[in-house]
Amino acid sequence: MMQSLQGKRALITGGSRGIGKATAIALAKEGVELGLIARSEKSFDSIRLELTDLGATFITAVADVSQEKEVRKAVKDIENKLGNLDILINNAGVGTNGTFQELPTTEWDKVLSTNVMGVVHVTKAVLPGMIEKNRGDIINISSMSGLKGTKGSSAYSASKFAVIGLSESLMQEVRTNNIRVSVLTPSLVETDLTRGKGSNSRNPDKYTQAEDLAEYIISQLKLEQRTFIKTAAQWGTNPF
Ligand SMILES: NC(=O)c1ccc[n+]([C@@H]2O[C@H](COP(=O)([O-])OP(=O)(O)OC[C@H]3O[C@@H](n4cnc5c(N)ncnc54)[C@H](OP(=O)(O)O)[C@@H]3O)[C@@H](O)[C@H]2O)c1
Repeated sequence: MMQSLQGKRALITGGSRGIGKATAIALAKEGVELGLIARSEKSFDSIRLELTDLGATFITAVADVSQEKEVRKAVKDIENKLGNLDILINNAGVGTNGTFQELPTTEWDKVLSTNVMGVVHVTKAVLPGMIEKNRGDIINISSMSGLKGTKGSSAYSASKFAVIGLSESLMQEVRTNNIRVSVLTPSLVETDLTRGKGSNSRNPDKYTQAEDLAEYIISQLKLEQRTFIKTAAQWGTNPF
């Protein structure tokens, strides 16, 4: 029997666009109450309308996940309004382009502070509430680039490898608190981050869409509490 998600409370970082937005909408349809974090108030415009149309309960908070103080405040505001969180989806992430020799240190700082320290700050803020409840789900979005380095992706790849390492260690530490930590390593998904990157990028049937990933996340969250998927790699079937 799958468990119902009705009435659960989820925080999604980067919940305003792309994979985070699609996941927020899919969770809202399951009756989940939402806290969404992104850096710009404006980026919430479209999801706000869609969630209101669905009659969803949600709160948006502007914070940069790389900034610990901003994260603590945003999580506090969200928990004050929704209560302790059941689900955390660490999804906010940024990319960068350039070979190792081209990439300035400032780009390394931006990518690592968002993609790695962002996960650390948000998880640190949310975890105590989950431990108190003796239950929770944390899904960290890494990438296929977290399994394999490719030309021009040293900083992004390093950040996504780090997400896998920290997720697996955290998983081992908190499974005794009934907290399920899992990590997803999707290949190309058509979003603002990747638009135009695939050779067939104008053909939505050729690539995994954000909604497909959201559907997978829902099915994973619905698994009986006694079991979970540790890592999952969602790929496009025939993107050629
Ligand atoms: N698309 C792909 O092919 C793909 C594949 C594998 C993994 N991923 C991973 O999936 C995640 C989501 O990617 P996406 O393609 O959906 O990206 P996207 O369309 O660019 O959306 C990124 C989201 O994160 C927010 N965000 C970015 N930096 C932030 C920060 N410092 N603090 C708070 N929010 C921040 C953005 O809002 P603001 O700009 O307003 O802050 C936006 O809501 C990322 O971690 C990415 O690495 C993507």
